[in-house]
Amino acid sequence: MTIVNIDDLREAASRRLPKLFFDYIDGGSFAEETCRRNREDFSHLSLRQTILANSADPDLSTDFLGRQHALPFMLGPVGFLGLYSRNGEQKAARAAEAAGIPFALSTFSIASLSDVRETSNGILHFQLYVLDDREFAEELLHAARDANAEALHVTVDTAITAIRERDVRNGFRSLTRLTPRLLASLCRKPAWLFDIAQGGMPSVRAVRHRPDFGSGALEQAANLSRRIDKRLAWSDIARLRDRWKRKLVIKGILSPDDAEKAKAIGVDGVVISNHGGRQLDGAMSTISALPGIRAAVGPDFSLMLDGGIRRGSDIIKALGSGADGVMLGRAYTYGLAAAGQAGVAQAIDTLRREISIALTLMGCGSIEELKRRGPHFVTKMRTPE
Ligand SMILES: Cc1cc2nc3c(=O)[nH]c(=O)nc-3n(C[C@H](O)[C@H](O)[C@H](O)COP(=O)(O)O)c2cc1C
Repeated sequence: MTIVNIDDLREAASRRLPKLFFDYIDGGSFAEETCRRNREDFSHLSLRQTILANSADPDLSTDFLGRQHALPFMLGPVGFLGLYSRNGEQKAARAAEAAGIPFALSTFSIASLSDVRETSNGILHFQLYVLDDREFAEELLHAARDANAEALHVTVDTAITAIRERDVRNGFRSLTRLTPRLLASLCRKPAWLFDIAQGGMPSVRAVRHRPDFGSGALEQAANLSRRIDKRLAWSDIARLRDRWKRKLVIKGILSPDDAEKAKAIGVDGVVISNHGGRQLDGAMSTISALPGIRAAVGPDFSLMLDGGIRRGSDIIKALGSGADGVMLGRAYTYGLAAAGQAGVAQAIDTLRREISIALTLMGCGSIEELKRRGPHFVTKMRTPE
């Protein structure tokens, strides 16, 4: 099939992956209302077309999280990339490096921080889930320092895992070992199976030495989710701030109050996120939460946004509404599942091209100009009377 956009990569991923993995990536919680809203609410914003502005070849580089990047987006943390494509974490990191953008490795990864660092010299971030076992968090912080991770994203919207109904139907969460039904479903996707089988039975590297998490990625995944600390509090974030001197980011903020608390506690930035509509179903979309949060924290505090980004124009709308940078989730994961590292590169290139074309037609010469004059370029559509 001809692939021209992120939706095509999604389609290609659905053909290549066993259904239970595709649904795990694609799905949201409960009625998937927030998941849909994340997408739909971008369409309430419009871009200003300006002609004869000599804006071909706009400069896409920009600053976010205290550093200059080649593009205004990065690869956010997505769990178990190595299950969708062999060495998936390393492939994503290499594609990000080639594009000059950061890759954030999830705590729930097949590859470890050092595995990723061995294959890529790019800008590495690490996403931390704080588990009830605090020594484990300490181990991960050491590993993140050793791997030269520049930023730590502490995810705070996942005290418990919401019900993702597609996963329940597929038996995803309850499957901890290879059953005949699972085996049959995996065998239906021979290209994927052949690729993954070459790496042996996948397991989560960070807990491979911990028999209490079980063996094999599925059992480890179930145990890891179960053991996320449900009592994590602001005081823990303050302690983490003392122990981690590099960039510290809180991921999973949706309200102005929480963003103000995060700023007051001394973190370097927040990611406006509802976990891609995978947690609190009914929560507002991230693009609609953004203006209120920007107003609350002021112009100088770092704000990232994720959720529903599938088009370059989505990224432009987020930056024009006050985000410093954007994080991709499913968009690059579809690419990885469809075609490995080349698929991630294709996702990045597609978005780069879409941003470049839109900025040119908007008469906007650079991402910096877009951010500076946001409301000039991005406006809320008037609803009919
Ligand atoms: C399959 C999948 C796994 C994810 N795993 C993690 C994770 O391990 N840690 C985390 O902080 N966020 C995780 N997320 C959430 C993403 O970081 C991000 O918030 C979300 O995907 C953004 O929405 P989008 O996919 O619509 O762009 C995951 C998302 C998906 C789709």
